[in-house]
Amino acid sequence: MSGEKGGNEAPLRTLGSGSLAAVFREHPERRYVMFGGKGGLGKTTFSAATAFWLARQGHKVMVFSVDPQASLSDIFQRDIFGQGPVKIMDNLWAQEIDADKHIAEYQDEIRKKIVDMYGMERVPDEIEDYIQAASAEPAMEESAIFDAVVDIVVGGEYDYYIYDLVPLGHALYYLSMAKVYDEWINKITHLREEMRGYEEVVAKIRREGEVEEDKILGELQYIRGRINAASRILVDREKTAFFFVVIPEEMVLADTRQAAEMFARFDVPIGGYVVNRVLPAELLTEGAPTFLSNRIRMQRRYLDQIDSTLGEQVLARVPELERDVTGLDMIERTAEMLFME
Ligand SMILES: Nc1ncnc2c1ncn2[C@@H]1O[C@H](COP(=O)(O)OP(=O)(O)O)[C@@H](O)[C@H]1O
Ligand SMILES: [Mg+2]
Repeated sequence: MSGEKGGNEAPLRTLGSGSLAAVFREHPERRYVMFGGKGGLGKTTFSAATAFWLARQGHKVMVFSVDPQASLSDIFQRDIFGQGPVKIMDNLWAQEIDADKHIAEYQDEIRKKIVDMYGMERVPDEIEDYIQAASAEPAMEESAIFDAVVDIVVGGEYDYYIYDLVPLGHALYYLSMAKVYDEWINKITHLREEMRGYEEVVAKIRREGEVEEDKILGELQYIRGRINAASRILVDREKTAFFFVVIPEEMVLADTRQAAEMFARFDVPIGGYVVNRVLPAELLTEGAPTFLSNRIRMQRRYLDQIDSTLGEQVLARVPELERDVTGLDMIERTAEMLFME
């Protein structure tokens, strides 16, 4: 069927063209930068390299992550986790959000609100249990993280925000955060309903009825306002640059195609593709080990496929380096290749 190919290709169409450097030069308004893709492909590496490159161009840059693996700490060789913004070099700051800390703060906030709103002395045990249980759920963790991200981005202190994404599945979940927040709101609503079951609480609510309802409603509307602001940033075609990292392998390309379709569904604009870990063609000499020459040929096949399906949307090809990318020297080398024109 002819429909199949067209159907697959449509979501891969993107806004960018030429080189990554050109995209940044031609679109200074795209201040929210994200690299997406499966785990281990090079998202953190390219986030750091892009942050480095932009900072060198004189822009004030924040690269931040919610990855509990503390990968920015690894790549910058600095202890960043849970420390707030850490200055890496001129114009460049990095931050790793400690989700657990934020969840704890979240719980405290909820406790305080319950105590304030219902004029209690302390949170009843049953409700405390509920708060603990709710906090163990992924939605709670995601929304705590999301809140921290919103704080960073809404602060508006930097020219560029580079969001070092967790692997694709999570990223997609993250991008549908508005839905996650809705869940959270449902939980609060649910909590309110549950509280009706506690007699002393019911007495309080009855006494101060309407005022309490307004307060809760106000709180929910505030949260909704923040969700909207934040999800607007993510899907804002003007201000967001979302790049996919791929490597020349069959599985990765298939997954990426699927992901691109998902992103299109979430209306996330794709800024282009970066191909990582390309084996240098000059290694394909006569005396090259079979293992190596086979891999290079295999890559070549997928590189051709990438070029024919994505064409101009491929903004950079970064070679396989002789070692992991850690430390500013390696980051600089990677940046030079990532932003080569
Ligand atoms: N072009 C490359 N050459 C050599 N090592 C690389 C290259 N790109 C990434 N790496 C290494 O691969 C590992 C995974 O990269 P990373 O950026 O952490 O992936 P992700 O953030 O997508 O999970 C890291 O150890 C990184 O240093
Ligand atoms: Mg990473």
